[in-house]
Amino acid sequence: MTTPRKIIIDTDPGQDDAVAILLALASPEDIEVIGITAVAGNVPLPLTQKNARIICELAGETDTPVYAGCDRPLAHTLVTAEHVHGKTGLDGPNLPDPTMQLTDGHAVDFIIDTLRNEPAGTVTLCPIGPLTNIATAFQKAPDIIEKVQEIILMGGAYFEVGNVTPAAEFNIYVDPEAADIVFKSGAPIVVMPLDVTHKALVTQQRNDAFRDIGTPVGIAVAQMTEFFERFDKEKYGSEGAPLHDPCVTAYLIKPDLFKGRHVNVEIETVSDLTRGMTVADWWDVTDRPANALFIGDVDADGFFALLTERIARL
Ligand code: RIB
Ligand code: CA
Repeated sequence: MTTPRKIIIDTDPGQDDAVAILLALASPEDIEVIGITAVAGNVPLPLTQKNARIICELAGETDTPVYAGCDRPLAHTLVTAEHVHGKTGLDGPNLPDPTMQLTDGHAVDFIIDTLRNEPAGTVTLCPIGPLTNIATAFQKAPDIIEKVQEIILMGGAYFEVGNVTPAAEFNIYVDPEAADIVFKSGAPIVVMPLDVTHKALVTQQRNDAFRDIGTPVGIAVAQMTEFFERFDKEKYGSEGAPLHDPCVTAYLIKPDLFKGRHVNVEIETVSDLTRGMTVADWWDVTDRPANALFIGDVDADGFFALLTERIARL
């Protein structure tokens, strides 16, 4: 019997963030969510912190502390994605406003205090939005970096190229300076880039399976993924939209669903043309040290079977 992984989910909900959080909250034997930290990204911070609380209430997990974090990137003005996620960031289901309160204190201080107070190597950070909170915590308290068990993040792209520019994926594009700090930190990193998330497509059959769960959570997940996928299906002409962020929490539960390669990844922060590109040395053509497990493949049927089974628990 393994002990559950203690994690902090750093998030910019976002329908796919919501499914990632629900998967984690539905899996107490694998994951202990010690806190959720909101960051500006898909929508501004007042909405991401509100949406994080809506999701906790939907899961019936109102004891999970939710903190508000950074409301803008380190160096750029905030770029949001209402065109994908709707003006609330959680368009699709009609979910009630949260009654649970935001926990006092800044998300960055919660990340720092948690890593300082928990035994070294026992807390995993799961950023599924721009990396502003994580980078700010590392800058403010460099001593916490060696205490991080692992960072499992959704972001970046290499063979799949970008989704917000030809070169960059949204989370990294929004705050490339933060990503640069995290990727150079020396903490162990697992990256879930578009290369793998674009293989986790919410087909109609998979969406029907969410709806057929028949519970309020199952129906809400079906409505969220239906809303969220309309943009990507149109854009990519694919049979469904990629379900990005749940790849992070699914990896914690069933890592064998995924395949990747340990490579060097560096972040473009200088050029406007390629700002936020994750330059992965996939063929090891430089002498730059490998700093990340860059995931390129997933057993999509296994991923959705896990997701559907666990969502049905809530
Ligand atoms: O590019 C996809 C990522 O950007 C996902 O995390 C999605 O929620 C948005 O934040
Ligand atoms: Ca996200």
